[in-house]
Amino acid sequence: EKGGYEHFMLKEMYEQPKAVSDTLNPKHDPHIVDGKIVLNELGMTDEEILKIKKIYIVACGSAYHTGVTGKYVFEGMARIPVEVDLASEFRYRNPILDEGTLVIIISQSGETADSLAALREAKARGIKTLGIVNVVGSSIAREADNVMYTWAGPEIAVATTKAYSTQLIALYLLAMRFSQIRKTVSEEEMEVMIQDLKRLPDQIELLLANKEKIQKFANRYLAAKDVFFIGRGVDFAISLEGSLKLKEISYIHSEAYAAGELKHGTISLIEEGTLVAAVLTQEDLYKKMISNIVEVRTRGAFVMAVTNEGNIEVEKASDYVVYIPQTNSYFTNSLAIIPLQLFSYYVSLGKGCDVDKPRNLAKSVTVE
Ligand code: M6R
Repeated sequence: EKGGYEHFMLKEMYEQPKAVSDTLNPKHDPHIVDGKIVLNELGMTDEEILKIKKIYIVACGSAYHTGVTGKYVFEGMARIPVEVDLASEFRYRNPILDEGTLVIIISQSGETADSLAALREAKARGIKTLGIVNVVGSSIAREADNVMYTWAGPEIAVATTKAYSTQLIALYLLAMRFSQIRKTVSEEEMEVMIQDLKRLPDQIELLLANKEKIQKFANRYLAAKDVFFIGRGVDFAISLEGSLKLKEISYIHSEAYAAGELKHGTISLIEEGTLVAAVLTQEDLYKKMISNIVEVRTRGAFVMAVTNEGNIEVEKASDYVVYIPQTNSYFTNSLAIIPLQLFSYYVSLGKGCDVDKPRNLAKSVTVE
């Protein structure tokens, strides 16, 4: 059932090009038609979309991390204010849910107890809910007013990879659809974005082919005590996910930090040889990020940078570089996550951990 792969996680990472492509444009309900984003399954009218004043994205774990990316994308593209919340916080804090609020619940399993409770709380208050769910017919899929499915297929490894990647796609599509209706993006820009979206599966494939290089690099960090992930904008969102992947399966402590926050605390933890993974995919933030890289290197950090092809400045400023192919700046998380997933996988493998079933963790958290 592992299809020749040593672990489900590796198999599922390799299924990402297909999972992403199936979610982008499901055969039974194409989402890209005549240069436009069409989301028939969503069942939301243009009028409903125009009336949205605020979005809450509510989820747990990695699904929450895709929500953080979603905030940057929705606000940037569709100009709708977005609040991202952990389901276990949202449900207990009496959130302000006015008319015109849309609550988006993201969940691979569709059964996570806190996410389901958050959905029920929003519904009980008469607020419109939208589920982004992978398991067809799951509780969240059944109870949400509207559903957008991700088409990752069954995910077995506790550490999510392909479901995470498809959740990102669902959020891009939603943000694009909303932008189209609210006219916050020109037709030309939309066309370019659609072309970029369509290229993602092949680009992911290309990055997966780099696995030997990443494995070699990962093997140098099997004894690491702490690792830090830093980024700005959507690269901060991906730092959260990169950090969770590593600690979840390799038991190495790691932290994600918005790069600008480093000097407000974390930088005191950097020692000679500490690994810092710096993600830099946002051109307008390169300079700021490079100065953060300099800050940590001055204190002895070893910097692995993940950045866009052709970013020579970063190559000069860091110790090890992984390049990702060019895409729209909203979509870079879909590419930058691949080397970070591979890195965690190979650290876990090298340390002899139980990659697919890390200690103390369950695939689906159905307790509160
Ligand atoms: O099934 P869900 O998407 O609701 O699960 C949410 C989290 O439990 C999940 O993403 C968890 O953080 C993963 N194990 C991370 O790899």
